[in-house]
Amino acid sequence: MKSADGQRWQVRAQRPIAYDVIKAPGLFDPANDLLMSFGNPRGRRFVAVDGNVDRLHGERIRGYFRQRGVEARIAVFPGGEEHKNIESLQELVRALDAFPIHRRDEPILAIGGGVLTDVVAFVAASYRRGVPHIKVPTTLMGYIDAALGIKAGINFNANKNRLGAFEPPQAVLLDAGFLPTLPRRHLVNGVCEIIKLAVIRDAALFERLERDGARGVATCFSEPAGEAILDGAIGGMLEELVPNLHEEELARRVDFGHTFSYGLETLHEHRLLHGEAVLLDVLVSTCIAQARGLLSASEADRIFALVEALDAGLDYGVLDAEVMWTSLLDRIKHRNGMQRVPMPSGIGRCVFLNDITRAELDAAVPALHARTKANHESALEC
Ligand SMILES: NC(=O)c1ccc[n+]([C@@H]2O[C@H](COP(=O)([O-])OP(=O)(O)OC[C@H]3O[C@@H](n4cnc5c(N)ncnc54)[C@H](O)[C@@H]3O)[C@@H](O)[C@H]2O)c1
Repeated sequence: MKSADGQRWQVRAQRPIAYDVIKAPGLFDPANDLLMSFGNPRGRRFVAVDGNVDRLHGERIRGYFRQRGVEARIAVFPGGEEHKNIESLQELVRALDAFPIHRRDEPILAIGGGVLTDVVAFVAASYRRGVPHIKVPTTLMGYIDAALGIKAGINFNANKNRLGAFEPPQAVLLDAGFLPTLPRRHLVNGVCEIIKLAVIRDAALFERLERDGARGVATCFSEPAGEAILDGAIGGMLEELVPNLHEEELARRVDFGHTFSYGLETLHEHRLLHGEAVLLDVLVSTCIAQARGLLSASEADRIFALVEALDAGLDYGVLDAEVMWTSLLDRIKHRNGMQRVPMPSGIGRCVFLNDITRAELDAAVPALHARTKANHESALEC
């Protein structure tokens, strides 16, 4: 549109975002139409599947397409943070190029953990400048976090998610039937993000975790109390993400646990999972919040007791104040010049700090070591 003074043409446009996150038990039951109801039900499908998912569930997935007579190209792709890179992205794009699909009505399907769905969503964002995709998370991390939003990306130049895009999926389909084959460590990895969410925004979810969390882990969240924890986490996560999908607001409560963890995670790619790094950050933050008087001693005790009860198996040996401080400095760039660090001011409540000092972090690390040592010793006495 031309401006009144005739000296400029104004470009103003909005792209609506609309997709559903749908609970989809039995998604790969051949009689279930849901998966193929997005796009042309008789079209072809490019299907990116995580390697372990293919090993454990591949027959069922392949059988689904076979029995429905759908021409599908299954591209198997290894999970794990070390594969979230540009080589994997290129490999997927080559496979996609070798199996041409319609640009609009044959959505790419991403079936796997957060690594696979992040990489495939970035492929979908870039291929022909954008083709539709559907996410089917198979890890708890994907189920309650990674697959829900519109963020896609790969690690680059030793930095996490340095290249990426905001790419809305056509749908997110949640089939909890994938969770029972997850190794316990990966199940707990997802629980770490639920703890984060509970501490920073949801006291009721925190209480649920205290009451039913351990049983939830033991039963892969298949019982009603466990399912209620997952529903609470998904609902809470979406309430945080949806009003701010493009992160126009840089002070985000869901960034709790994502400040000091970055450097640790990149440095110890083979030793630390994403959720574990986040939970370490949550505990360091708990020590800082307690030292500032934001959290009472009993509130901090509850957080440590929950982590202990859920047996998160954290590796405290990776804690390094220098690395964590460098992460905070990098986050300041990411958050446009301010720390904007979410901190609990009570369980389920949040404030943003902009004045965390190196001395506070230096004090928090030994405080955390002392606490976990004391907890460990009291557990041995029992
Ligand atoms: N986009 C976002 O908003 C967002 C949010 C949170 C996390 N993430 C990203 O998610 C990634 C972590 O995701 P993740 O923890 O799912 O890791 P992952 O994708 O590497 O999966 C973890 C492991 O589980 C295996 N696996 C997957 N499904 C399985 C199943 N059903 N049974 C048995 N094994 C299975 C995988 O092969 C892999 O070895 C990180 O890269 C993180 O940055 C993204």
